[in-house]
Amino acid sequence: MITGTENWNLAIFRDSLAASEAAADVVTSVIHDNPYAAISFPTGSTPLGMFDVLAARAARGEIDFSNVTVFCLDEYIGVTVEDPNSLTRWLWDALLTRIGITPDRLHTLPVIANDPVAAATEYEEAITARGGLDLAILGLGPNGHVGYNEPGSSADSRTREIALTPESLTQASAYWEGAVAIPGQAMTIGVGTLLESKQILLLVTGDAKAGILRRALEEPMSADVPASWLRIAGPRLSVIADEAAASNLSAVHPG
Ligand code: PGA
Repeated sequence: MITGTENWNLAIFRDSLAASEAAADVVTSVIHDNPYAAISFPTGSTPLGMFDVLAARAARGEIDFSNVTVFCLDEYIGVTVEDPNSLTRWLWDALLTRIGITPDRLHTLPVIANDPVAAATEYEEAITARGGLDLAILGLGPNGHVGYNEPGSSADSRTREIALTPESLTQASAYWEGAVAIPGQAMTIGVGTLLESKQILLLVTGDAKAGILRRALEEPMSADVPASWLRIAGPRLSVIADEAAASNLSAVHPG
């Protein structure tokens, strides 16, 4: 069970709608405090409700994204933004066009670079040049990944190419279009980079995530469940879950 020595925050909401509103509140507050914030957003089905709330708030003029910079969290190797399977393109359509982020304020991962190691280092340098991420928003993969930091990822891992696990490939196949096989490799912002963010928001909904959320929050931190490393961030980590995802937690965290 989680002890009082871990001082990260957990908030549990009735359903995914309420969790999405709460997550959108975090984004809103970060941008109100710093209109020039650098943010990374997750892809997947979990953030869609939060995206709708943010788009509605932007349309009503309650939140202004015009000076916000976005860093892509992960992308398949060799997949350009024109490709219908691009995660960058997906984020573009699902959120960024709706909130008025322009291409000049979007940092895309260098997944077609000749020298991916050097290009990933440059991507890290761009994050550092912004003073680190102000907010890293993350979903939780069924295998415990955050971004595409797959099991085996160390707490000090950096932006890099990584081989996708069979579980992640199965997860991705639900979204994948066309006859071309899903690339076995992706590039992801590293765990160590994420841990340097001023705030980290882990958004987890649905009963399918109950088991892996329990492992991430209650088992000893380990590369087996890379999301567990986020607890190192202490009070800079906020976990927002709905009751379904939180249903396996053995007790409510005091934070
Ligand atoms: P999901 O993906 O929101 O589609 O469950 C989460 C993730 O893998 O980050």
